[in-house]
Amino acid sequence: MTYAAITGWGKCMPPAVLSNDDLSTFLDTSDEWIVSRTGMKERRVSHVGAIELSTVAASRALACAGLDPADVDLIIYGGVSNDELVPNSASGVQFALGATKAASIDLNTACTSFCYGLTTATAMIRTGVVRNAVVIGVELISRYMDWSNRGVAVLFGDGAAAVVLQASDNEEGVLGSVLGCDAEGRQTLRVRGMGCTYALHDITYGDTIWDFDGQSIFKRAVHAMSDASRRVLEQCGKTADDVDLVIPHQANLRIIESVAKYAGIPMERVIVTVQKYGNMSAATVPVALVEALEASRVKPGSTLLMPAFGGGLTYCSLLVKWGERVTPLGQSAAELPPVTQTALEMVNAIRANQDPHGRSRDGLLAPVFAESSTPAAVE
Ligand code: ACO
Repeated sequence: MTYAAITGWGKCMPPAVLSNDDLSTFLDTSDEWIVSRTGMKERRVSHVGAIELSTVAASRALACAGLDPADVDLIIYGGVSNDELVPNSASGVQFALGATKAASIDLNTACTSFCYGLTTATAMIRTGVVRNAVVIGVELISRYMDWSNRGVAVLFGDGAAAVVLQASDNEEGVLGSVLGCDAEGRQTLRVRGMGCTYALHDITYGDTIWDFDGQSIFKRAVHAMSDASRRVLEQCGKTADDVDLVIPHQANLRIIESVAKYAGIPMERVIVTVQKYGNMSAATVPVALVEALEASRVKPGSTLLMPAFGGGLTYCSLLVKWGERVTPLGQSAAELPPVTQTALEMVNAIRANQDPHGRSRDGLLAPVFAESSTPAAVE
């Protein structure tokens, strides 16, 4: 039997830090509110595009695995943030890495994109379609955030991380995945302004309105991640006691604590990064995984649980068996260019560019084709 071992890992965090106090310079919010409701203290704002973030993360993961980019069979770019839609983003990473023979796929299931990508790449390796893969989780949310909406602007951040998977005879890597979608709630999280629906409106790219029903998403997230975790443990014949570490999606500290409580796993066995990076959507799980490895919290043979939740409303939970190696084989020289502005300066520049003529936001209020609230009958 062939398995898909995780043999390389690397992250790329943009250096510019946006604090809660920075946010309160232009929003009616406070450090106290944000910390008490979300656990977040700061987040990162990128000065480069999402392909560049991804390429640095992937280079580091490949060096860690000791795999030459020219030998990569598959790149999966997981996330919502694309520098451009055509050509796709994975092809940009392929080109920048020099991974000339890699199939290159963009995969968007919002915050679960990395975990869905990990499951997809694992299945492709286990069935012999490819021998190895680079799976990326990346977001550049700062560029299309509605910075006038305090209900969402405080929650998100930019970042990227990647892993390398390679075919192995050892029983390791993703051993079980439960994937699902609570589509009835898909309108509770919606970014208006991105997509073909808005093509006929006179809007500036990045000028968005976010529909975000935080309380509904909160409850749906806790339920979906808890249920998927219960089911994946059952599928693999494991219990909560077998889980050495939980590496969850980081949307809110209170969501993470609730999921851990339902799973019966103490917080000492849960990786939390939300305080320093906020919600990086598809990047949260891989960044948390890399940091768990860097902090020696992943041991040889560790069993990891990865529950995630995102727009769609997609959800999943993965059970991962780590291999013997928990240290990198090599280091990459890849680095981001130096940053010349503060995070607040970059955010203020994006804010100044949003709605420059005072006319575009009207167009976002009503989509050209309203979606039916009830699904069409299936004949
Ligand atoms: N600063 C200050 N006050 C605020 C802010 C802010 N940034 N945002 C909202 N408020 C106010 C509201 O206006 C409201 O005021 P009111 O009582 O006068 O009307 C009050 O604070 C309470 O607002 P609630 O929405 O009830 O606050 P809640 O405790 O539910 O916390 C939060 C909101 C943090 C968004 C929470 O609901 C949450 O985390 N939801 C889930 C988020 C999530 O899962 N996101 C990820 C989705 S998937 C993905 O990752 C993309």
